Amino acid sequence: MEFSIKSGSPEKQRTACVVLGVFEPRKLSAAAEIVDAAADQYLSDILRRGDMEGKSGSSLLLHGVPGVEADRVLLIGLGKEREFREKEYRAALSKAVRQLNETGGFDGTIYLTELPVKKRDVAWRVRQAAMIVQDTLYRFDRLKSKKDEVRRPLRKLTFCVNRRSELALAEDALAQGLAIANGVEIAKDLGNLPGNICTPGYLADQARQLAKDHGMAVDVLDRADMEKLGMNTLLSVARGSHEPPKFIVLHHAGGGSAKPIVLIGKGITFDSGGISLKPGPEMDEMKYDMCGAASVLGTLKAAALMKLPLNIIGVIPTTENMPGGSATKPGDVITSMSGQTVEILNTDAEGRLILCDALTYVERFDPECVVDIATLTGACVIALGHVTSGLLANNDSIARELLDAGHEAHDRAWQLPLWDDYQEQLKSNFADMANIGGRPAGTITAACFLARFAEKLTWAHLDIAGTAWRSGKEKGATGRPVPLLSHFLIERARNNKAGAKRRHA
Ligand code: BES
Ligand code: MN
Ligand code: ZN
Repeated sequence: MEFSIKSGSPEKQRTACVVLGVFEPRKLSAAAEIVDAAADQYLSDILRRGDMEGKSGSSLLLHGVPGVEADRVLLIGLGKEREFREKEYRAALSKAVRQLNETGGFDGTIYLTELPVKKRDVAWRVRQAAMIVQDTLYRFDRLKSKKDEVRRPLRKLTFCVNRRSELALAEDALAQGLAIANGVEIAKDLGNLPGNICTPGYLADQARQLAKDHGMAVDVLDRADMEKLGMNTLLSVARGSHEPPKFIVLHHAGGGSAKPIVLIGKGITFDSGGISLKPGPEMDEMKYDMCGAASVLGTLKAAALMKLPLNIIGVIPTTENMPGGSATKPGDVITSMSGQTVEILNTDAEGRLILCDALTYVERFDPECVVDIATLTGACVIALGHVTSGLLANNDSIARELLDAGHEAHDRAWQLPLWDDYQEQLKSNFADMANIGGRPAGTITAACFLARFAEKLTWAHLDIAGTAWRSGKEKGATGRPVPLLSHFLIERARNNKAGAKRRHA
């Protein structure tokens, strides 16, 4: 798909379809008013006759509207003007794209990006529009022998802005939105691929390809390297599987001598639970247990496309979690890379076991900060559902940054406490700690476990168990939290620049 930004009169656009908004009840948006005037009240007549109320979710496709250069005019219901906020804006764009895709036209010129959204500027509106378009048009049919084909797919979309003075800002926002959308797409594809294709080796190959495409350095450690480093908790998870584990390290070097930001993604390419085997129903969804890893690759892709002036290191510990003759057993005690010992009471709490060695490993980079991203606990789905990711951190200012980034990107997170009081639940009679903390506060005790390996780091943890994919009829990866992480990085880059300016002044 090709995208562009424009500012100009809607009636003069030579395009297959002009997209305009209508508020409820029967109120034309500013751009629609202009078209109506040029069309001799053609639109307001239609509204008066009751064919379009402006209800959110409704739409009306018109052909050959007089006084208008475009072949078609698509009216999109926006709901009540007073209630038109982020959610309504996003819904209107998604509806518009779905409708456009069903017309015969190759291109569309969208005026919805001109609509005022409370507390949001033109850059936000355009960035979101680009992301929503790509999200709406996403299909994963590469494993089907017959693709579900659209008759004449859309090829070009133009977003319109009110003033010429907004063009430059909107162009930048479009580029950002498309970069993030590209990262989201990678994360979705990797998530949706089944465990027999998307293995640890496959993730390593994807990382190598990404590195090649964008001139990043990449390192892939294999089992022998990990043994030398003493990554025993990670290796304890891999023991039941025939697929070799990998430890992937990717460097985006755009920040000169600055300390790196490290992103660590959980990469369990299939989580059967191991000897503590999961129940059968929905076990297929545990192919998504590498969505943290996928979000790291997606975010690095977005960062590379945006050429962010930061040093970013993506780290992906990846393995399957399978039962088998040499699999780790409940009760086994393992010495982690940090030297701390862990009694494995449940082999299904494996995510923390691969992440803890990764946290120890990244100390060598002397990072500015570390964020890990993991489909870590079913308890997080119970606590927060599918709306927001869980956030826990050992530093309030990084927590704040991530929460803000989530709001800006409409990919939200919600903070849970990481108080020491919860650490008691991890007490073991046989090792420094157990790998589970019982039923209460499962998301918090999982983070408490990780916190013991992050003491030397400024660290935050995102539990994306409820947000990384959808179940049921619409089963599929969401690409979250690539938008959140991308915005986190964009803000970091912007603040560095502002800081540098201040220092030079
Ligand atoms: N990958 C799962 C977490 C998960 C479960 C995410 C369901 C999304 C949906 C993780 O490895 C796991 O199995 N966690 C256990 C931990 C428990 C044994 C302490 C869980 O949440 O049940
Ligand atoms: Mn598990
Ligand atoms: Zn898991």
